[in-house]
Amino acid sequence: MTGGGSSLSGVQALLRVLAAGRDVAELGTAFGEGAAALAETARSVVTVERDPERAARARERLAGLANVELLEGDCYEALRGRGPFGLVFADAGRPFDWEAILALLEPGGLLVKDDLTPGRPVDGDPVREFLLRDPRLAGVEILTTPATAAIVAVRR
Ligand SMILES: C[S@@+](CC[C@H](N)C(=O)[O-])C[C@H]1O[C@@H](n2cnc3c(N)ncnc32)[C@H](O)[C@@H]1O
Repeated sequence: MTGGGSSLSGVQALLRVLAAGRDVAELGTAFGEGAAALAETARSVVTVERDPERAARARERLAGLANVELLEGDCYEALRGRGPFGLVFADAGRPFDWEAILALLEPGGLLVKDDLTPGRPVDGDPVREFLLRDPRLAGVEILTTPATAAIVAVRR
């Protein structure tokens, strides 16, 4: 687990692959490391951080990346009406507003949630129940390290 800071290097590698050529939204910028990885291959990245000190650090980290827009505030408010996006990295922490997140995605768009403990049952886990069972999505859980997992889902 990342303890609320930057995503793991394996997650950043996954994000680089999945973001290629897409318009991307990241919910929860932290210090900008995930956004920087996304920006390496994405067409555009909009990323939102509500903590002013983290947003300031991220602004320095992401300065000069022409395809990145950093917004400060609540991600659900800041992104309402934006999009649709080809990839949403839902990394803002609980509670997740899955309906608002789904509304950001274009058909065929990808949704990534990391920081999961592998091997947990789907039943009773609201994150897994939504991402792996909602009929509007098709999802798969993958290991990002031997002890951490992510779910990648596509909007049908
Ligand atoms: C796990 S960190 C993000 C890591 C980052 N995505 C990366 O890959 O480097 C989660 C961040 O989400 C922010 N956050 C939590 N709830 C939020 C919200 N509703 N809107 C915007 N940011 C939020 C937290 O302040 C924290 O910095």
